[in-house]
Amino acid sequence: MGRVAPADLEGAVRALRAGELVAFPTETVYGLGADARNPAAVRRIFEVKGRPARHPVIVHLGDIAQLPEWARQVPPEARRLAEQFWPGPLTLVLPRAAGVDDSVTGAQDTVALRVPAHPVAQQLLAAFRGGIAAPSANRYGRLSPTRAEHVREELGDAVRVVLDGGDCPIGLESTIVAFQDGSTRLLRPGRITAGQIRALVADLVIGADPASPRVPGSTAAHYAPSTPLTIVPAGQIDARSAALAEGGRRVAVLAWRAPLAAQPGVTWINAGERAQQYGHDLYAHLRTLDKSRCERILVQDVPDGEAWAAIRDRLRRAAAGAASAEANAQGEAP
Ligand code: TXA
Ligand code: MG
Repeated sequence: MGRVAPADLEGAVRALRAGELVAFPTETVYGLGADARNPAAVRRIFEVKGRPARHPVIVHLGDIAQLPEWARQVPPEARRLAEQFWPGPLTLVLPRAAGVDDSVTGAQDTVALRVPAHPVAQQLLAAFRGGIAAPSANRYGRLSPTRAEHVREELGDAVRVVLDGGDCPIGLESTIVAFQDGSTRLLRPGRITAGQIRALVADLVIGADPASPRVPGSTAAHYAPSTPLTIVPAGQIDARSAALAEGGRRVAVLAWRAPLAAQPGVTWINAGERAQQYGHDLYAHLRTLDKSRCERILVQDVPDGEAWAAIRDRLRRAAAGAASAEANAQGEAP
């Protein structure tokens, strides 16, 4: 997680000023960045990702002091969260300030803001001095990239500059907390847990308001590999993969332990029992299994408990996303 050379940094800042895109590492995943004050540049993000135009993106800031330029109102509890967790893997959704463009907010009255902790993101934001709009640097609906080479694989030449900061230390997207219409909602679980938020926020509601529009990360089908993926109850993983493999299918397994007995013909990844390590490796493992040319990925269901909440959330979305892709491929309605 080093820093980038001054010449690379200058090139990235020049690209942003010229309205071009720059992929950069954060402590969570790689982002695909554009000058948040340049609507044409922000729209380019959507083209490159193949993302529906009206989905809002997160604006990354170098410093908490920039908050008033982007949010017209910062409730005391939001300020406390920012002071406690920034720079870090937390995104706050707040009433937007005048002049924040519709391309960033999806024409909503709120804007998502985050001060990332990764040294390269910090370097870039400090040198650019403005807000950088950035979703994860993957194609729409697919797995977020946690290494520079994942960005290259997904987006190729569409992104001129990819700043390489190595492996993202967390590997799962930021926790999102929205302050909206008088309530405080956890829109997406991440490394910062609901318990940590509750220590500073009186009434935290888990999940999006079902009546609220357009929160793409919260649509069920998201963060998905292209191979069909099924979550299997933890105790049944050995029997299920053995049965599929016996039927002649090429099976891949993502588990948190080794198989009970050798499973010939099964690609088995033991991601371990430690939630933080599991989360760090999750997308890279799913990419590996996706490329293993198996017909199905079976995932051993992960333990209960808050440390696993973000992982459970991404696995359920990956299963839903892979299922809808499978239905499409078979010509059914998703
Ligand atoms: O860790 C992260 O958050 C990474 C890194 C690059 O910072 N970014 C990321 O961006 O995951 P993206 O676009 O893939 O996910 C952002 C999420 C989406 O689910 C989006 O709907 C939500 O943030 N979001 C953005 N603006 C919002 C708003 N005004 N109201 C509600 N949700 C919003
Ligand atoms: Mg994303």
